[in-house]
Amino acid sequence: MTDAPPLVRPALRTDLESLNAIYNWEVEHGIATWELDPWPLARRVEWFSARDHEEPVLVAEREGKLVGFAYLTKYRGRRGYRFTRENTVFVAPAQQRRGVGRVLLAALLVEARTLGLHSVLAFIDEENVGSIELHAALGYVRVGAERETGYKFDRWRSSVEMQLML
Ligand SMILES: CC(C)(COP(=O)(O)OP(=O)(O)OC[C@H]1O[C@@H](n2cnc3c(N)ncnc32)[C@H](O)[C@@H]1OP(=O)(O)O)[C@@H](O)C(=O)NCCC(=O)NCCS
Repeated sequence: MTDAPPLVRPALRTDLESLNAIYNWEVEHGIATWELDPWPLARRVEWFSARDHEEPVLVAEREGKLVGFAYLTKYRGRRGYRFTRENTVFVAPAQQRRGVGRVLLAALLVEARTLGLHSVLAFIDEENVGSIELHAALGYVRVGAERETGYKFDRWRSSVEMQLML
């Protein structure tokens, strides 16, 4: 039996506790983020408040429960990069491989096109096969790699860069 697609909508202030819990699980147990310390809710609220419509945050919910989120972040600070964004997508562990990531990222790309962006980038731990495959499934191609710029769980970590031209 296939799962019904999740509902995707813009994030609200009231989503931040659940969103942050999904993120913090990955901080403590996963390689998707090389953050080492869980974010306090206050930091997440500040992060959310600092964003505007050019850096949309989407959430996915199933049966009223937040099961994932995705967002666009301006790439570097300089104005010349204004048509580029970095994307991020996280799905709650129990909901992975049930179509949430694909729906979220596809919805985020609709936002990216609406904003008139030219391309989106994803920096992914080279061992994060699920994320690399998800991005590839949506048309991203590998454009770069960085060797051992991260250190987590007692070992060096490397990343790949993937890009989708819009
Ligand atoms: C990576 C992640 C976002 C994928 O989301 P998801 O909801 O699990 O993925 P979906 O079920 O939508 O899968 C869509 C496609 O991605 C690919 N994919 C997803 N997970 C995969 C895995 N573990 N192995 C191989 N391919 C995978 C497949 O092509 C899949 O299509 P299919 O199921 O028809 O084969 C999710 O696993 C996650 O949040 N992981 C932890 C956080 C993370 O890694 N975020 C990305 C940071 S760069």
